[in-house]
Order: sequence, then C-alpha cells, then structure tokens
Amino acid sequence: MKTALITGATDGVGRVVARQLGKRGWRVLVHGRDGERGEAVVREIEQSGGAASFMAADLAALAEVRALAAGVRQATDRLDLLINNAGIGTAGSGRQVSQDGHELRFAVNYLAGFLLTYSLLPLLKASAPARIVNVSSAGQQAIDFSDVMLEKRYSGVAAYCQSKLAQIMFTVDLAQELKGAGIIVNALHPSTYMNTTMVRRAGVTPASTVETGAEAILQLAVSPGLEGKSGLYFNVMNEARANAQAYDARARQQLRDLSLRLTRL
Ligand SMILES: NC(=O)c1ccc[n+]([C@@H]2O[C@H](COP(=O)([O-])OP(=O)(O)OC[C@H]3O[C@@H](n4cnc5c(N)ncnc54)[C@H](OP(=O)(O)O)[C@@H]3O)[C@@H](O)[C@H]2O)c1
Repeated sequence: MKTALITGATDGVGRVVARQLGKRGWRVLVHGRDGERGEAVVREIEQSGGAASFMAADLAALAEVRALAAGVRQATDRLDLLINNAGIGTAGSGRQVSQDGHELRFAVNYLAGFLLTYSLLPLLKASAPARIVNVSSAGQQAIDFSDVMLEKRYSGVAAYCQSKLAQIMFTVDLAQELKGAGIIVNALHPSTYMNTTMVRRAGVTPASTVETGAEAILQLAVSPGLEGKSGLYFNVMNEARANAQAYDARARQQLRDLSLRLTRL
C-alpha cells in the first residue's frame, strides 16, 4: 500500500490532502500536535476506505522531530511520499523561539522539515520512486545570514517569508543531491490566502479555498506529469521562479551548512 507522511495534517490544507490521499487508497500517516483532531482525521480516512494512523510531534523541538522520524520507521517499512506542510503563519507581535532556542518560524516551517527529510531519506530511497513536497509560499524574503535568527530586526512577516524561502532553497539543493536516486522533490505556493486558521489569525480575509491548495499539492505529490521533474518551485499549478536567492548556490551552501550544524546531522 502506498504510504504518505503529511505534517500538519490536523488542520487547513494538510487535512484536505490527507483525506484525498486516503480516498485514493493510500495509507496516510497523519502528523500533528493535537491527538483528538488527529484521530478525527484518521477516522475520516478510514471511513472513506483508506488506512491511517496519527503521529504526534511538536515540530518546535528537534528532539520531537527525531522521535517522529523514529516513529515513522517503526510504523512502516515503506514511505512513498513526504509532504512537509506544517507551518506557522505571520500573526503575533513578538519574536518567539523554539525549544532549541531558534527563531520559531525558521525552526518549525523550515528546520524541522530539513531534519525530518534527512532522517527519513533512507526509507524514501528504499521505497523509490518516491516524492517529497515542500509546502512553501509566494511570501518569500532573502535570508540575511548575519541575522538568520532575526535577533536584530524581527517581524512575523519577515520570519515567515525567510522560512518559506529557506524551504525552496532546500528543495533546489536536495534535488541536486538526489539526482539518480529515484526521488523527486519540489516546492510550491499552494494558493493565496486560503480559508485556514493561519490566515484567519493574521486577520486577512480569505481569498481562496483549501481545495484549490490541496489540488496543487496533490499535483506535485502524485501527478504522472511530474515524473523526472525535481528541484522546482510551483505557483499553485504552474512552474514559476522563486526569489532570486533560491538560485544562488553560495547562499544555498550557507543555509545547508547552518542547518547541518543546528540539527547536528
Ligand atoms: N493558508 C494559505 O493561504 C497559505 C498560503 C501559502 C502557503 N501556505 C502554507 O501551507 C501550509 C499549511 O498552512 P494552512 O494554511 O493549512 O495552516 P493551518 O490551517 O494553520 O495548519 C497548520 C498545520 O501545521 C501544524 N503546526 C503548526 N505548528 C506546529 C508545530 N509546532 N508542530 C507541529 N505541527 C504544527 C498545525 O497544527 P495545530 O492544528 O496543532 O496548530 C496544523 O496542523 C503552511 O506551510 C503554510 O505556510 C498557506
């Protein structure tokens, strides 16, 4: 049975993608923080004929990311698809840090996915052909490597946008590393201001639906048209250009070095 892990599948667009993969007969590992909402998604998938189990982890702690990867390896001997979707939006006034002391959006939106992906790479490779989808955003801001943790100049928007570009830089970088391994990795902006918790919290009037975003994520996750395509950024359904820093090999190397150091990989 084809198996997928979707982070942040207890709410928003991740939840819709989880349900739709379930309907297509996939086994879905539903990740989230809230057990009650997680089990509700599992039941929905089971009722529609799929198989699912819930995996709890707070991605604001690297130790929990490692434990999540260990839990996945225990639960399944194959992983065809990893969707790094969990994220925190722009709302909130002050700078926050993760349990490891890293700027919170950088930690949850980007660094957790970096560590989770590398921790699950052997399993993905063993299950090839496999896919990785990084749910990023059109909201992108170049990383200032002299202040990655935004200690000097913080705003929720800057924190969110640099974390989303970091995901794309990671995507471009990882695609090169995985050439010939039978794994494709792509990133996308799923849709603009979908009606989700993160958008409502930011006080923004929703402008699109979670179904639109789910369709775009599913294209990268399962469409045969994506075969052989890797390291790309999509604006909803179409290939697009990301922020220029994504194509700056030196910047990507800097981010990679920092990420390897922070995750002790
Ligand atoms: N909404 C949009 O218009 C839009 C636009 C562009 C990109 N995106 C991207 O799409 C993805 C999904 O966003 P969404 O709009 O569906 O958001 P959402 O409804 O707020 O859902 C976010 C998911 O991430 C989980 N999450 C947040 N912090 C976490 C943590 N510390 N540890 C573990 N899980 C955590 C949430 O769990 P809880 O339920 O426990 O909080 C929830 O399951 C995000 O990466 C976002 O940046 C969204």
